[in-house]
Formats: sequence, structure tokens, C-alpha cells
Amino acid sequence: MPKKVIPKKMPAKRTSNKIPQLLRGFKDILPVDQQYWRLVRQAGQDFADGYSFGKISLPILEESNLFVRSIGKDTDIVQKEMFTYNDVSEGSVTLRPEFTASVARAYINHGMFNLPQPVKFYYFGPLFRRDKPQAGRYRQFYQLGYEVIGDTGAIIDAQLIVLAYNLLNQLGLKNFTIQINSIGTPESRKEYKKELVSYYKSKRKMLCENCKKRLLKNPLRLLDCKEASCQPFKGEAPQIVDWLDDESKAHFMKVLEYLDGLDIPYILNPYLVRGLDYYTKTVFEIWPAEKEDGAQGALGGGGRYDGLIETLGGRPTPAAGFSLGVERLIIQLKEQEVKLTNHQAPKIFLAQIGDQAKIKAMKLFEQLRADGIIAAENFTKDGLKNQLEIANNLGVRYVLILGQKEVVDGTILLRDMESGVQEVFDFNKTLQEIKKKLSAN
Ligand code: HAM
Repeated sequence: MPKKVIPKKMPAKRTSNKIPQLLRGFKDILPVDQQYWRLVRQAGQDFADGYSFGKISLPILEESNLFVRSIGKDTDIVQKEMFTYNDVSEGSVTLRPEFTASVARAYINHGMFNLPQPVKFYYFGPLFRRDKPQAGRYRQFYQLGYEVIGDTGAIIDAQLIVLAYNLLNQLGLKNFTIQINSIGTPESRKEYKKELVSYYKSKRKMLCENCKKRLLKNPLRLLDCKEASCQPFKGEAPQIVDWLDDESKAHFMKVLEYLDGLDIPYILNPYLVRGLDYYTKTVFEIWPAEKEDGAQGALGGGGRYDGLIETLGGRPTPAAGFSLGVERLIIQLKEQEVKLTNHQAPKIFLAQIGDQAKIKAMKLFEQLRADGIIAAENFTKDGLKNQLEIANNLGVRYVLILGQKEVVDGTILLRDMESGVQEVFDFNKTLQEIKKKLSAN
């Protein structure tokens, strides 16, 4: 008998009878929440239109190398948070953890330096980071953002901040602050980093484990450590603004001048350094007011990244941008009890009794829909009482009723749920009459 060959590596057991569950840090966005999503997405698009940003849609999967080179190999995102796997044909690929790198890649790939500069991009979509899940921090989350590629002007930085400020106000958010800093050029930062490391070296023993590593690999991040044990050292630490080269300093002053001129409130935060390596000069973050030093609560962030396109192999091209975290915006909209107007809520209910009426009602429903009038219905129910109850629960003001008698007479009933008054109309005038009622309200 030939021996049975047992494969050396058995595939992992994948089948189970348990009900499949969501992965940690992943979320379903249910219909009840979609109003908020629609509001944010629509405001994002309206602002893109208003400020002439063109929408860009980018792939979810990219070469890992794109993010390693852009975000920086020693950053938390690249070190710990990327969903990376080895693809059979493409090699190491990664689910995008942010958009800026992909926008820069697309700008180079499509030769957009040939277009009139700057080129302005808007995006909205999901990102993936293997972060420790908690409220407002997910492994799949959404950002909307704006990038301006091809201009060095401080006015670009200021206008991006103005856009962010106006967008949050338009959404109805009141309590937020804009924090701003400048981290200069990589050259001016070299000297500053030396100074920072020498300051923190003397405190090494008292630093948290993470900061001990940062001291070697990513010293700027020492400044925004949230551990209590590291807080006492911040106050005396050297501040990056004192190390800025003249050009970065002048650029920063100009940005602040523009913001002052436009009455945009901001807070200067000398410890703001951001967690991605590509930034130069201006950096900023937006925080809900009550959480200014919270661990993971920034609503958004961005800044200038004049070296990124060149790092990726393009021509030297200045750029700036920012992104907002959609889930965090929605948490704030809910906490601040921002009222939503649901334009998609049905305005009328279409009730029917009997088979003949059902067909006529279904036809009418299609006519209403084609005319942009959203009608609720429950064609599977037969009793009028039942249907009026549903209409009542939906909070619609008007119910159109088609019964056997109305079908025979060629009429339709219109019931005002507020007053209880019912009127009879010629069926052919239904659209006309319902429009009159709706526009009167
Ligand atoms: P970021 O600070 O990494 O910047 O992310 C921007 C925003 O995305 C954060 O302020 C936060 O609202 C949201 N966010 C980040 N991680 C999570 C998470 N795990 N769960 C929920 N929300 C999260 C960037 O991504 C840069 N690309 C921004 C930029 C654009 N810089 C220049 N242009």
C-alpha cells in the first residue's frame, strides 16, 4: 500500500460554527448613522467645489515602499500599524494608512507637474492602521482631506487652515481649537534634534519605555509623548521655533499674519511635531476644545511637505495639505448635539387597500419617485389602520390613500395627519395637489 502523504504544513483551521464577528477596530456604519456620514461627505465635497479642489480617488492597496519612504521608517505608523502582506505577484503591499503619500505618487505618475500649478486635490475614503482600538481610534477609519501641490506660498498654508476652520463651522461644530507650529526644514531640524537629544539624555532613566526608543530613533516625538512620567520634562525642553532658519521663520510669520488678518483663532503650540516624517515648516492640528491634550482625540491635522515629491523621485515640488478624521467629526457632531435636517426623510406615505389599489399605488409610487418626491409605503400591509400607524411612526404629515372605492371613482384621498382632515382629489391631479401641499409647508 502506498503511504499516505501528509503535507508538512496543515492549513490553519478556518471553519467554525460560531457567528462571524467584526474584527477588532473595524465597524459597521448602520443606516441610522448614515445621515451624519452624508452630511460630512456633502460638506467636504461642497468645500472642495467652493475652493476649486478636484476630487481624486486612489487605490486602497499600494506598494509598501510608498508609505515607508513617505511617512518614514521609524514612525509608529510604519513600525507598528501598517496592514502589510506579501502578494504573490507584487511583493510587499500595504492597505493605505493615509492619503498624502498616494496623492504625491499620483501627481508624479500622471505628470501633473505639466498642469498649471498648484494642483488642488480633495479625497474621502477609508484608511487602515493597526492602532490600539478605543473610542475614536479604529483600525479602519475614514478621512476627508485637501492637498495643494506645486506652490511654496504661506498663503496656501493659511488658506488650508481657513478652509478647515470654515468647514468645521459649517458642519455646526463650535468647540474646537486650531494648534499651529513650524518645524522648519530637515537641515534646520538636524541641529535642533541634537539639542533635544542632549537635553533628554540627562533624563533618560525617568522616561517611559517608548521615549527611550524615541531618543534614538525619532527624537521629535519625545515632545508629544502623553505619558504622565514624561510630562515634567517638556516645559524646559528646547523649542523648535528657536532653531528655525530665517526662511522658515519668515514663512511661519506670514502664515500667522494671514490668519490674524482673517480673524482665524489659533493656539501656538511649540510641542506640536506631528507623527509623519514628511512635514516641513508649518504643521497644525485641530482639537475638540475639552481634549486639547487627549491621547487620540485630534479631529484633523496637516501641514507643509515640501520634500515629499522629491523623496519619491519626482522633481522638487512644494506642497501642503490636511485631513480630517470622519469618525471623530461625527462623534463631535453627536456630542455637541448638532441638529441634522434629513432631506431624504419621506414627506408622504402611500397607503392602499385591495389588489386593484395596490397596482395603482405602485404605479403612483414610481411617478412620485421620478418627480423627486420621497414617499414611504408598506405594500405588503392591507389594513388601513396598520398603514396609518406606520405613517405616524415615520412622522410624515400627509398620507395618500387609495381604496377600492377610489379606484372605481378615479379619485384619491389625502389625509393630513396633524389635523386629521381628509380631502378627495381627482387621481390624475395627485402630483399637482401633493406638490402644492408640500411647498406650502
Ligand atoms: P494624521 O494626523 O495621521 O495625518 O491623521 C489625520 C486625522 O485622521 C487625525 O487627526 C484623526 O482625526 C484621524 N485618524 C488618524 N488615525 C485614526 C484612527 N486610528 N482612528 C480614527 N481616526 C484616525 C494624516 O493622515 C496626514 N496624511 C494628514 C495630511 C494631509 N498632512 C498633509 N496632508
